[in-house]
Amino acid sequence: MTLAALNAPVDLGKSHLCIIGQQRLEGELHVNGAKNSALTLMAASVLSHEPVRLRNMPDLTDIGAMAQILVSLGMGFHLEGSSAVLRGGGLTRHDPSYDLTRKLRASFFLIGPLVARHGVAKVPLPGGCRIGSRPVREHSKGLQAMGARISMESGVVSAEAQGNHGRLQGCPIHLDYPSVGATETLMMAAALAEGETVLHNAAQEPEVVDLAGLLKAMGARIQGAGSSTIKISGVKELHGADYAVIPDRVEAGTFLIAAAATRSRLHVTPVETSHLSAVLAKLEAMGCSISPQGQGLTITTPGQLRGCEVRTQPFPGFPTDLQAPFMALLSIAQGDSFVTETVFENRLQHVAELQRMGAQIRTNGNAALVKGVPMLSGVPVTGTDLRAAAAMVIAGLVADGVTHVSGLEHLDRGYTRLEERLQAVGARISRIDATRTALLAA
Ligand code: EPZ
Repeated sequence: MTLAALNAPVDLGKSHLCIIGQQRLEGELHVNGAKNSALTLMAASVLSHEPVRLRNMPDLTDIGAMAQILVSLGMGFHLEGSSAVLRGGGLTRHDPSYDLTRKLRASFFLIGPLVARHGVAKVPLPGGCRIGSRPVREHSKGLQAMGARISMESGVVSAEAQGNHGRLQGCPIHLDYPSVGATETLMMAAALAEGETVLHNAAQEPEVVDLAGLLKAMGARIQGAGSSTIKISGVKELHGADYAVIPDRVEAGTFLIAAAATRSRLHVTPVETSHLSAVLAKLEAMGCSISPQGQGLTITTPGQLRGCEVRTQPFPGFPTDLQAPFMALLSIAQGDSFVTETVFENRLQHVAELQRMGAQIRTNGNAALVKGVPMLSGVPVTGTDLRAAAAMVIAGLVADGVTHVSGLEHLDRGYTRLEERLQAVGARISRIDATRTALLAA
């Protein structure tokens, strides 16, 4: 890394990644446990008095934030290597504080297991975020249908079971939208409810299936997870479990997209291919060749990449979480590509940052027309949310020159030490801490 690269005009107060582009990668990238599953499995541990061991846990700031919330409620939590042991026997509170929950949207999912366990839950409404308003109507409507009285005061949503002995009542619930969080919240609530709950128009994401796997390991009676209709027959109590988190399909997809963008041959492992079928199909349509190898996939990108059309959808459609990284790839593909974001209302903020690098993109509402260019140029850019930050890293890996990517507070929520792992396969990338930058500037 040249000193000149370090002295580029960037915000001295922020840590950032410094990437010298145009470097092929080579080797193997390991995929960690899935963030969006681990968070929900941690919430599910509230449902049992007995310890729950979760293996293959990712080392992410979001996991730490969820652990802080659970410990504040009286739960026990400790790490043993990449396993987390959660002890629900110590749970004494049902009202996580806003200064902890505001860091983590998934904290709202706790309203389900807390009201199921204690008969009452008081959980701060999650704020919106950069990608959308993130409503929780489906979560509240479902709990109401199960007999919880829902109220809101000073930004805190209260759910109080009105059934006998403070127990929720199972019932049919129709989701207006196959919300992942609502499906997970209601599955956890229904696991301890009296009678049967049927979730119609449920989310089918692999993380929902993973949650059902843990709940069944704890003694819950669940059928249909992974389809749009999930049946949960409530039981009186759930026991502890020892359960492994699935590999992170979004991290795996990010690595495969980075390999395609840099024309690299990479082995990405482990990968559950059924979790990524829509993404694999698009990469192959663009000209990549992807073959199973051991527990993972090997990707090579022989020639020129062709543009394609992408429309994000709930699973098994193309995942919204890979839309931004994929757009970085489309920016340097041959010809035109058309991207439609149908899941979140404001998830095209990475377009402006890619345009700064020379990408030719025009947007209209939630749609973007991407005209592939031969080369992007390295400039200082910002990752505006978790997956947009990943997109900027991919763009930096292929750009001509040096790219400084800030917004690492977002990136570190979903990718553990990303720069170290990319360095290990040949990327010229390093993290410049704010203090070090300031010293350099002094
Ligand atoms: C989960 O968020 C993931 N987060 C998100 O990952 C992911 O993008 C999203 O599912 C979609 O796959 C976690 O699992 C922690 P939703 P969630 O409820 O549950 C609308 C990442 O980058 N909606 O399925 O909040 C909502 O407005 C993050 O890892 C309603 O209209 O997603 C949104 O447009 C980002 N009413 C759409 O559904 C509701 O009551 C998807 O939301 C609830 C949601």
